[in-house]
Amino acid sequence: MNHSLSFRLRKVAIVFGSAAVGLLIAASTHAAENPGYIEDPSRRTTGIGKFYMGREISFVMGHQAAGWLNRPGRIQEEMPDEVVANMGLEPDHVVADIGAGSGYFSFRIAKLVPEGKVLAVDIQQEMLDIIEATKATEGVTNIDGVKGEIDNPNLPANSIDAAIMVDAYHEFSHPFEMIDGIYTALRPGGRIFLLEYRGEDASVPIRPLHKMTQEQVIKEMSVFGLEWTETLDFLPWQHMMIFTKTE
Ligand SMILES: C[S@@+](CC[C@H](N)C(=O)[O-])C[C@H]1O[C@@H](n2cnc3c(N)ncnc32)[C@H](O)[C@@H]1O
Repeated sequence: MNHSLSFRLRKVAIVFGSAAVGLLIAASTHAAENPGYIEDPSRRTTGIGKFYMGREISFVMGHQAAGWLNRPGRIQEEMPDEVVANMGLEPDHVVADIGAGSGYFSFRIAKLVPEGKVLAVDIQQEMLDIIEATKATEGVTNIDGVKGEIDNPNLPANSIDAAIMVDAYHEFSHPFEMIDGIYTALRPGGRIFLLEYRGEDASVPIRPLHKMTQEQVIKEMSVFGLEWTETLDFLPWQHMMIFTKTE
């Protein structure tokens, strides 16, 4: 499958007398072009030595560190309940949590979409197993684990109202293909919530490759024509950036 190309079919109703006939007449494309990757071990700092739009990509956080994602101090550091409360979700929304890890955000979002569901996407089966175990202990039924691939979130086209990535995007080894897949999965008007530690702020105590500047994020999202809707700056250390698929 060519992930850089997705088709959005437009239906045009042509009226003959009193009869409306739905006719499929046109296929338009969102053919975002990959700006390209540069693999240059000589420029490697603490990441994988692969660069996208001037940014070195970070290593993936292994499932062995899953416990760290649930550390108690994270409530103050990342205010997860306030994050999900600010997503403007409807009870029937379908939300993809991309790079879900142990489900720290998935379980909070699931409470806000009782008639919808959360698609918790991760490339590590061990993370999905942790989510399944927590679902069983907590009796949660509206989270579906999705085994993603490094270059594909494996979500059906036109199937989600929102996607959230928390502390995850900077470690996607194929950011172009991932956002392309998310864009295709979003319904028109759907939103992407991208949370990363603030790269502009030296006082945020996180290693540089695990941070991103707003300028860099906007540059990378603009490849897809995603509209930068707003940035919420209520978090101690992160940007909560919101992008909208406008058509
Ligand atoms: C630092 S953890 C953050 C987990 C979670 N979002 C949270 O805030 O607790 C990043 C997660 O992204 C996952 N990941 C990395 N690349 C991915 C990709 N291409 N698709 C889906 N998940 C990915 C990793 O396996 C890891 O579980």
